[in-house]
Amino acid sequence: MNKVPVLVTGGAGYIGSHAVLALLDAGWVVAVIDDLSNGTRDVVPPGVGFYEGNIAARALVERVFDEHGIRAIMHFAGSIVVPESVEKPLKYYSNNTLASHALISAAVDAGVKHILFSSTAATYGVPARMPIEEDDPKVPINPYGASKLMTERMLADASAAYPFNFGALRYFNVAGADPQGRTGQIGRGSTHLIKIAAEAAVGKRDHVAVFGTDYPTPDGTCVRDYVHVSDLADAHVAALEWLVEHPGENLVMNCGYGQGLSVLEVLDAVDRINGVPVRRVMAGRRAGDPPELVAANSRLLATLDWRPKHADIDRIVGDALQWERTLLDRASSPTG
Ligand code: UFG
Repeated sequence: MNKVPVLVTGGAGYIGSHAVLALLDAGWVVAVIDDLSNGTRDVVPPGVGFYEGNIAARALVERVFDEHGIRAIMHFAGSIVVPESVEKPLKYYSNNTLASHALISAAVDAGVKHILFSSTAATYGVPARMPIEEDDPKVPINPYGASKLMTERMLADASAAYPFNFGALRYFNVAGADPQGRTGQIGRGSTHLIKIAAEAAVGKRDHVAVFGTDYPTPDGTCVRDYVHVSDLADAHVAALEWLVEHPGENLVMNCGYGQGLSVLEVLDAVDRINGVPVRRVMAGRRAGDPPELVAANSRLLATLDWRPKHADIDRIVGDALQWERTLLDRASSPTG
């Protein structure tokens, strides 16, 4: 295996920082570009080449390619909040689609050989069947999903014309934190269920609102496929290895465990791990939430040299809670 130097865009962010750790643990050499709009400099380990800036800044990207001999990219940088994408669609097409165009163009010109892209279950829209297979229709219902799907298409077309291959990993609900406590979700204006529940468990919030109790699901709340962020990071390393070993072939796959859990089941896990119940407030439906999203993951399991290590909701919640306590300790320490 030729472990080529890897650029991680968004490497100071939630999933990107876990991917940096997974790459380093597996012996890859890494550089990071992050504009710190959501990321945090502290979670990038010392010794990793770090560049603060935007991936659409061509001169910066060329400099990083040059200084590190970059031959592969893991591309995480982007905007990720679905409701915000509805209010500010042009921000999403700019940060997710146009910026990716700039990055891919620079990569093609510099002879980068492999691009692994963060995609999302939001590319499917409201799926007609469950679990969702990769070849099912992709009809995104918000600009976030559309902006990511456009980039997938751009990568497919560009990889057919230029000498690189690509992977697009469609994430389901990513949660948890590094089991060793090295990084986690920072959460400026958190919207994700497990992050919010963890914040409530450590006293940063008074309660968790349960958005909708009248869905056509077993307990009336939405069902999602929660995947531990460190398993997802390991899947990225396995996908990069696959791309290196399969020049001329591309990889598009769901990343989930193939198991659905309801909002109430997740909150039960939080209460179990926390010991003290988190206050729940039953609320109305949140706009744009599909009742159920569960990945078919047979392609992931059949293709990559990867098996989940943390496919257990108590584990995911436990690591999320541990990270939330770390953040609390840092905030209250004299130097924090
Ligand atoms: N939820 C609550 N209370 C909260 C937060 C969330 O009840 O305070 C519910 C939501 O209504 C939803 C479930 O918990 O039913 C999960 O919501 P998240 O916000 O954690 O995650 P989403 O399923 O909305 O989002 C995920 C990814 C997105 C992706 C989307 C695809 O995080 O990146 O799936 O629909 F686009």
